[in-house]
Amino acid sequence: MKVMVVGSGGREYAIGRALHRDNGVEKIYFAPGNGATPQLGENVDISDYNELADYVEKEGIDLTIVGPEAPLVGGIVDVFKERGLKIFGPDKKAARLEGSKIFMKNFLARHNIPTARYIETSSEKEASDFIDTLRAPIVVKADGLCAGKGVIIASTHDDAKRAVSEMLSGKAFGEAGTKIVVEEFLDGYELSVFAICDGRDYVILPAAQDHKRLLDNDEGPNTGGMGAYAPTPLADEALYKKIEERIIRPTVEGMAGEGMPFEGVLFAGLMIVNGEPYTLEFNVRFGDPECEVLMPLLKTPAGELFDKAASGKLSELEVEFVDRYAVGVVMASKNYPYKKSEPAEIIVDKIVHTELADKAHIDYAGVTLIDGKLMATGGRVLVCVGLGDSIKEARDNAYMLCGQVHFAGKRCRSDIAYQALQDS
Ligand code: AMP
Ligand code: GLY
Repeated sequence: MKVMVVGSGGREYAIGRALHRDNGVEKIYFAPGNGATPQLGENVDISDYNELADYVEKEGIDLTIVGPEAPLVGGIVDVFKERGLKIFGPDKKAARLEGSKIFMKNFLARHNIPTARYIETSSEKEASDFIDTLRAPIVVKADGLCAGKGVIIASTHDDAKRAVSEMLSGKAFGEAGTKIVVEEFLDGYELSVFAICDGRDYVILPAAQDHKRLLDNDEGPNTGGMGAYAPTPLADEALYKKIEERIIRPTVEGMAGEGMPFEGVLFAGLMIVNGEPYTLEFNVRFGDPECEVLMPLLKTPAGELFDKAASGKLSELEVEFVDRYAVGVVMASKNYPYKKSEPAEIIVDKIVHTELADKAHIDYAGVTLIDGKLMATGGRVLVCVGLGDSIKEARDNAYMLCGQVHFAGKRCRSDIAYQALQDS
């Protein structure tokens, strides 16, 4: 089977790595990929969906897997499906679960799926009246995609009203913010749960935890994610069951029932409040860096899993996971997340790296090959993933590898997985 992965980050590298391990996959393509993906396959520099579909036809590529949300919300799946090409990801309609917060919140309300109390509005007055009924802090969200920045947690009622006004005027996020959601603040801990869906059936992956803040102890600005680990002990059997029964299943059934079956990765961003799961958001793709810690836990060949999911045949597959833990530590560039950094050459100590071979590996993200040298050119440069029989062992392996990776200005958190380890 020939497989193409759309995207260029660490998530796509991790998917590529998992496909690479699958003997049933003969060749991997990345569109566009990054400076390190040629280690696993071939980069294809095409972004137009129709041209990409032409290429897939010409090369006889059997399956396309879409990593990021932008092409999904942009309708890449619709273009491929119209042409009879097999692709894993939701179509444009189903991708609104991520593309529109209002669509998502109203969907949850229609299906009685637990979420924070909210209103959707374009009226400053209506928002303001609702804010007066809530206790601070108060959450204000832009409707559209804002690259993860469209959520304001206001600590006072006045701050919330100011955020509303800035969004509705278009000043804060342009078009994406001219419709908003205002909601109550949920106080608990966050959990990411991923389900691979084929429109009707789903497979829930081990729960992961992301670390969104830049600095240790969850301080500093929000980022795309500075590290993740899975499975997390923060989700026990009973909680998994609630998440499946109250959130994942009604969502998959609800989408199918409304005539927009969900195919692809359903990423439920949850807040657990007193043991009860609430849906904060849906994404329609793998999280990054969550994907980097989930892919190595797959025992089932990745190509087979994605192929069955894209063919509506998940029920034919018994999906298995290895009985191990994975911890991923993001190494970011000096000025992340504020501004670009100078390109810096990446050096990995070969000897130690080889010794760590089946205990730790690197998933490359913001890297470019320049004159034969692998350079750090993006914000999140790479992820050091450690594996082990315990979270501690996995974390130690990840940090051991971090110590072997060098580039000017490198930064990473030193406490990834701390919530899982603080009691041990
Ligand atoms: P979202 O993009 O909706 O997931 O929001 C981004 C982040 O804002 C989440 O990961 C949470 O940390 C936080 N957040 C969003 N909504 C709420 C809420 N209702 N209560 C508490 N925190 C929230
Ligand atoms: N790590 C969170 C995300 O990918 O949205």
